[in-house]
Amino acid sequence: MLAPQISMRERMGMYNANALKIGLFGPNCSSGRAVTRVPERWSGTWPDNLRLARMADEAGIDFLLPIARWKGYGGDTDYQGATWETMTWASGLLASTRKIIVFGTVHAPLFNPIIAAKEFVTADHIGEGRFGLNLVVGWNEGEFEMFGVKQREHDERYEYAQEWVEVVKLAWSDRQDFDFTGRYFDLKGIRAKPKPFGGTRPLMMNAGASDVGRAFALRNCDAFFTNTASRRSREDTESKVRAVKAEAERIGREIDVYTVGVVTCRPTVADAEAYYRHCVVENADWSAVDLILGKKNITAENHSPADFQTARNGYAQGMGGFPVVGDPDTVARILADMSAAGLRGIGISFVNYADELPYFCDEVLPRLKRMGVRA
Ligand SMILES: Cc1cc2nc3c(=O)[nH]c(=O)nc-3n(C[C@H](O)[C@H](O)[C@H](O)COP(=O)(O)O)c2cc1C
Repeated sequence: MLAPQISMRERMGMYNANALKIGLFGPNCSSGRAVTRVPERWSGTWPDNLRLARMADEAGIDFLLPIARWKGYGGDTDYQGATWETMTWASGLLASTRKIIVFGTVHAPLFNPIIAAKEFVTADHIGEGRFGLNLVVGWNEGEFEMFGVKQREHDERYEYAQEWVEVVKLAWSDRQDFDFTGRYFDLKGIRAKPKPFGGTRPLMMNAGASDVGRAFALRNCDAFFTNTASRRSREDTESKVRAVKAEAERIGREIDVYTVGVVTCRPTVADAEAYYRHCVVENADWSAVDLILGKKNITAENHSPADFQTARNGYAQGMGGFPVVGDPDTVARILADMSAAGLRGIGISFVNYADELPYFCDEVLPRLKRMGVRA
C-alpha cells in the first residue's frame, strides 16, 4: 500500500492548528534541564521517558525534543550524567505514541551522513511522518575527545555541517547511484532507499547562537531554536523574531522561531515562586553549575562578582531557559505573549516532567485555548 502524501507545511504545523507549539525539552537526560539537588529531580530512566511520552501524546503536547549529550557535567548530582542516545530514544518513543512529533538531536560531526540519513528515514517511517531532526554542531569539547573526533574551529563547524546536510538531503531525494565530492566527503555510488515518509522530508531544526549558526539555520532548516525570548520585554522578543524572519525572507526562505522555557506552575504565584527558589536557589547543584560555566570559560577570575553570580543563577535555573513561573493564569499569559511576539513554539522543561505535566495540561492548556493560542 502506498503511504499517504504529506506536505512540508503540514510537517511544519506538526499536523495541528496550534498557533504556539509546546514541546518537552531535555527529558532524555537525568536531571533534565534543572541543575538541582532536590530528590524529586527527573530520573531520565526509560520507564519514566515512556510514561511521560505517552502522557504528553494523550494530552496534546506537540513535540519531544532531546538533548544530545554524551558525557555528564559532574557535580553533586552528576548533572545529565545518564543520557539516552537520541535517535534510538526517538525511535522507541515514536513506536509508542500516536500524534506527537519526536525529534532526534544529532551532532553532525559524529555521524556518517549516509548512516544518519537512513536512521532519520527509519524513525520517520516508525512514526509515520512524525520524526523531526534537530541538528547541532557541538558544544562541549571534552565530549568530542571521547570519540577521537577533533572539534573544528567555530565557523568551519558550520561549513562541515553544510556539506553534511546536503548529503543527507540528497540521500533523501530521488537521485540514485550518484557520487558526492566535497571538501569533507568523497562518497561513491550513493543509494539510499526507502525515502522519508509521505513524499516529503522530516522537519529540520537547528540550535545555534552565533551569526554563522543563525545563517546556517536560515539556509537549511524549517525552524531555528534559540534563546530568543527576551527577559526585557515582549517588544524586544518581537523585534528579534522579526529580524530572523526578515533575514530568511531575503534569501527566499521561511523559518519558524522556537525558544526555550523553564516552567514552574503551581496554584498560586507564591507557591510557584517558593518551589522555584527551593529548587534552583536553595538546592541548586552549584558544583555542577560551576563545571558547566567552566566549560564556557565563565569563571570568577574572568568575570566581575556580580556578572559571575548572574551567570550562575541563569544556569542553575534550567541552563539559561526563560523562567515561566507562576499560577496557571500567569503561565498562560507569558506563553500567549510569546506567541503574540511571533514565536512559533517553545521547548519547556520541569524539575520532574511527569509529576508536573498533568497540572500544566489541565490548567494551562485550556487557558491557552480560550486565549486563541491553542486549537
Ligand atoms: C536552544 C539550544 C539547544 C541546544 N541543544 C544542544 C544539544 O542538545 N547538544 C549540543 O551539543 N549542543 C546543543 N546546543 C548548542 C548548539 O549546538 C551550538 O553549539 C551552540 O548554541 C553554539 O552555537 P554557535 O556555534 O552558533 O554559537 C544547543 C543550543 C541552543 C541555543
